[in-house]
Amino acid sequence: MKKENLVDDCIIRELPKIHNRAGNITPLTSNIHVPFAIERVYYLYDVPGGSVRGGHAHKELKELLVAASGSFDVLIDDGFNKKIVNLNRPYYGLYVTSGVWRELLNFSSGAICLVLASSKYSEADYIRDYDEFKLYIHEG
Ligand code: TYD
Repeated sequence: MKKENLVDDCIIRELPKIHNRAGNITPLTSNIHVPFAIERVYYLYDVPGGSVRGGHAHKELKELLVAASGSFDVLIDDGFNKKIVNLNRPYYGLYVTSGVWRELLNFSSGAICLVLASSKYSEADYIRDYDEFKLYIHEG
């Protein structure tokens, strides 16, 4: 049996913000601001209005999602509990632990979703079918 409260482990983390009249900086360091060693960074951009991204879970991968620009919603679902988190500031990150189904939606125009990930891209780590995800959660 998998853990049932993974959604509760997916918390918003306040990130450092170095404020300056000429603009701000948010520096992120592995195992300090991000609760894992960062192995990969990618970002979603030019997302057409109405698009839904994600629609999968990861077996092992952990991620921190940041609205580097604009805003979007993240639906997270551990098979028992669901919540929707709105990300709209570059100094907050949503930690999404492994075993959690996620969908990204309601992207504002020009939004950039920065993703810090705990491992390299591996298609084998994805669960892309929701029924398969439910089986994975219940049967481990
Ligand atoms: P996917 O993770 O399914 O996108 P999203 O969840 O945002 O809708 O990735 C879309 C495609 O991009 C898929 O064919 C795999 C590829 N991809 C990589 O090759 N490397 C990566 O690091 C990522 C995140 C995706």
